[in-house]
Amino acid sequence: MAYLSTEKVEHHFFDVVIIGSGGAGMRCALQLADAGHRVAVLTKVLPTRSHTVAAQGGINAALGNVLSDHWLWHMYDTVKGSDYLGDQDAIEYLCRAAPLVVRELEHQGVPFSRIENGRIYQRPFGGQSRELGEGGQAARTCAAADRTGHAILHTLYQQNLRAGTHFCQEYFALELVTNEDGCHGVMAWDIARGSYHFFQAKAVILATGGAGRLFRTTTNAHICTGDGAALALDAGLPVEDMEFFQFHPTGIAHVGPLITEGVRGEGGYLINSEGERFMERYAPTAKDLASRDVVSRAIAQEIREGRGCGPDKDYVLLKLDHLGRELIMSRLPNIHELAWRFAHVDCTKEPIPVQPTAHYTMGGVPTNRFGEVVRPCGETMEEPFPGLYAIGEAACVSVHGANRLGGNSLLEIIVFGRACGNRVLGFLKEHPYHASVDKGCWQAGVDRVERWLSRARGRQGDIPRLRKAMQQTMQEHFSVYRTESPMREGLQNLKSLASALDDAVIADGGRVFNTELVEAMELENLMKLALVTAAGALARTESRGAHARDDYPERDDKHWLKHTLAWIREGVVELDYKPVRLEPLSVPSFPPKRRVY
Ligand code: FUM
Repeated sequence: MAYLSTEKVEHHFFDVVIIGSGGAGMRCALQLADAGHRVAVLTKVLPTRSHTVAAQGGINAALGNVLSDHWLWHMYDTVKGSDYLGDQDAIEYLCRAAPLVVRELEHQGVPFSRIENGRIYQRPFGGQSRELGEGGQAARTCAAADRTGHAILHTLYQQNLRAGTHFCQEYFALELVTNEDGCHGVMAWDIARGSYHFFQAKAVILATGGAGRLFRTTTNAHICTGDGAALALDAGLPVEDMEFFQFHPTGIAHVGPLITEGVRGEGGYLINSEGERFMERYAPTAKDLASRDVVSRAIAQEIREGRGCGPDKDYVLLKLDHLGRELIMSRLPNIHELAWRFAHVDCTKEPIPVQPTAHYTMGGVPTNRFGEVVRPCGETMEEPFPGLYAIGEAACVSVHGANRLGGNSLLEIIVFGRACGNRVLGFLKEHPYHASVDKGCWQAGVDRVERWLSRARGRQGDIPRLRKAMQQTMQEHFSVYRTESPMREGLQNLKSLASALDDAVIADGGRVFNTELVEAMELENLMKLALVTAAGALARTESRGAHARDDYPERDDKHWLKHTLAWIREGVVELDYKPVRLEPLSVPSFPPKRRVY
């Protein structure tokens, strides 16, 4: 298809283009803009509406402000939390860098809550221990009340404005421009004006966040549609470990908004319909502060066994009224507001109805710990794909393995945003000029939009109908517990939905602010990720972290201590595997062992 002459594509030159304006993209942009580079951040929303703004409970760092702590204990907890699927070199890097980057954020202006001596307030979170699991609960999560992501994102945005980063807002990324030498830019659609833009760059960084909108009930914003992973798949690159999707134990029942783990960190706890504090049975030591996969499974089990609450017995209750109004309003004010708005509950007086809710994409675009996107070369080796980087939830580095610990997500975006920035600085020294690209390299991006617009029929409803069916399928067939036959059926449904999407039409053929067009392209992205998630989950015949199979209840290190890689070739998902990096950088490895809380 050739719809447009090249004059209709505006051509921009930047040193670096970052797709996504959440915390990872912002932190990386700051590193590069402060070094004097010309940096563009492309975002499909206004920068401060990026989903980092919704992160509540805090950012982990072994500062030891409240209880004694050490980065090695943080590392141990993260490896154990990952159910031993995390890469230990990257995890060591993450945990060692944490105190440095949190202090850096403090100096950049993040208004952290304080303890009496003026140091940063730290609260306990799930899966945290001291002395390598022997010293009881840690308090490692640095908080700005329960609006930590909001505080970090706004601070980084302001720092970027100071540093001269260019923000291209309401731009949708259509295609990466790649050839055998690597990645040279991105084609984008200006949503507000309805025009095409080719951003040519020496380096392109995917920082597009997660794909929570794969599921019907999610803590994620509508914008979390896995755009970066889908761009990588379209460029012929694999995605990694997509079958590991985190369900946060405490989304508000039926609607999804997050009730932070910080509630349990402050002393809140879960009860079932019998008023029983049931986590004591599932995790006798950590109780309500076991890691998220454990707590979500416990809630699902209580519901399965008929001890759920409400008319349909499909949620449990999070009790926090005993903490007192003063503590709730000072440390958890956002929770108070959310519970009131979404559940009509005054949590200073009554418990909040909660259920496990899709929250975090552990998988993503495979990278090394410098943020370079890697692809396999040979049996066990991998090589960077030149000029392409991924960071934050869009990436799989992999520090979270099969289950992420709460508070490690904000940490990951800052640590690897910065590490990637440093790596790109080196790359720019070696690559001072833009590569030459073929004329018309932007055609695939143009075709993607024109295919929808040229078939706009006036028939409404295809996109919402297909999206709802996909989300329903993911929710029912790939939820907290998984089993072969429902997953097989789910995968079949997804294949039919993917081919229905090929024939779908939109009603609106207009170019200016066509939100239906954007939703159609977001659904294209989600559908690809649903297919690779389902295929990876079906293939993995074990239970590990967030991937819990009724039919294979045990972890199987002999066969499955490995990462999944998935490609889509000619519309068909292909899977392969790569080893877990069990060797840290400077300390002895934590070998897999039985995981109890
Ligand atoms: O529970 C929370 O505040 C979420 C934090 C996280 O996902 O890291």
